[in-house]
Amino acid sequence: MLLLACALLHLHTFAAPDAAPYSPDSARRVELIRLVRQDCGSCHGLTLKGGLGPALLPETLRDKPAESLVATIMGGRPGTPMPPWNRFVNAQEAAWIVDNLQKGFPGER
Ligand code: HEC
Repeated sequence: MLLLACALLHLHTFAAPDAAPYSPDSARRVELIRLVRQDCGSCHGLTLKGGLGPALLPETLRDKPAESLVATIMGGRPGTPMPPWNRFVNAQEAAWIVDNLQKGFPGER
């Protein structure tokens, strides 16, 4: 019986959904795109080419470690105008934003 339970647990681990990268459902995707284009854009520029905050374009972010960019979004940068966003997005969503910024952020439509 115990063996069976272990085997099942094992299978379950393999079937875990976190094998696939997170991607928001379509409604949340629209919200996240709007958040980045509008709220982040107010400092980082409407085309994300920079303003009060630095550019968030693939060429400026590609070589930076994603984890530290996610940490910047979640916690902000104390002592700079970059505020924390952890009340508005969770870590998975911040990682999705970083991934898309590094690739070229989608537009609103
Ligand atoms: C009130 C202005 C402001 C807003 C709004 C803002 N940022 Fe920032 N952000 C900054 C500033 C200023 C910096 C640079 C901080 C520093 O000097 O290290 C920064 C830095 C960053 C960095 C690090 C860039 C790098 O090259 O290391 C990322 C990523 C980032 N912001 C993403 C975002 C995202 C995503 C949002 C929206 C969810 C956002 N920011 C909203 C001002 C802002």
